[in-house]
Amino acid sequence: MHYSNEKFDTHPPSNCWDTYWKWYNLLNPNANPWEPGRRNLYRGIIKLFGKRDDWTFLDASCGVGESTELLASKALDVDACDSSSVAIEHAKLRLTCAEFTGKVFEAKWEALPAVAPRKYDVILNDALSWIVGVEAFQTSLIGFRRILKPGGLLAFIGATNKQPEPGFGMQLLREAWERLERERFKLVESRFESGLSVSHIVTRELGLDFIDENHLYLITEQGVPRLEFTTIRKPYTWDWPKLVTLFREAGFTKIDCVEIEIGGLNVILNIARTSNESLR
Ligand SMILES: C[S@@+](CC[C@H](N)C(=O)[O-])C[C@H]1O[C@@H](n2cnc3c(N)ncnc32)[C@H](O)[C@@H]1O
Repeated sequence: MHYSNEKFDTHPPSNCWDTYWKWYNLLNPNANPWEPGRRNLYRGIIKLFGKRDDWTFLDASCGVGESTELLASKALDVDACDSSSVAIEHAKLRLTCAEFTGKVFEAKWEALPAVAPRKYDVILNDALSWIVGVEAFQTSLIGFRRILKPGGLLAFIGATNKQPEPGFGMQLLREAWERLERERFKLVESRFESGLSVSHIVTRELGLDFIDENHLYLITEQGVPRLEFTTIRKPYTWDWPKLVTLFREAGFTKIDCVEIEIGGLNVILNIARTSNESLR
């Protein structure tokens, strides 16, 4: 196996997603938020809590707002946030078109208590397990806990209590790397539109406990070529025992795995609950 060098040892800068979202709409003009097999966290939450029209929801990793649109389409009272300013710009445009009434705002998870406009019954996060580093994980969890109502829920995906052995993430890393054999260098999409041509290439590198996805954009604008690129790291470090400890330390009282059937498949959602008492 080939391991890449360490490129960063803390949480990647929020702008690593900016380049990705900058080209996303152009490269995916027909993106379907309900594409089968995707967004199982959101489908699962709709299935579990879709009738709770008196609850408040926060899509805390909203990207360009496709996942928020799913929740809003079921008449849920939802706000949306993300740390990528580019994502938020696109999400605001998208959600305005969808006659959305919630708030869309830029925020890092650890900064949420200072900027969130209200408290929530449920926070959704489809990128929690991509956090790099224990300290970033701890501060993010505290950020979420402080904007949840007493008894509120943080819903995410990732580890499961069916594989509780410490180090199980390393097995998942090896399996993912084998599964991705044909995707280690891939031309994802090419588009040409009014004098602008963009080709999106993804290369993947294996690290000791992560896979780096390098996104390369070969751009020709007005005949002038250039390259933009970004790296999005996917760590495989958050085993179930580590999660249980981190959530307990951050003031959550319970963390469960809920198995739910979506599109004929059994999907596991992780749901962490805050205390019914108000904590600071
Ligand atoms: C997988 S993408 C979200 C996709 C979106 N939920 C959807 O279904 O289309 C993960 C998002 O999490 C955001 N993110 C990552 N780390 C963050 C942090 N510490 N604070 C806030 N947002 C963060 C990224 O900017 C990115 O837009």
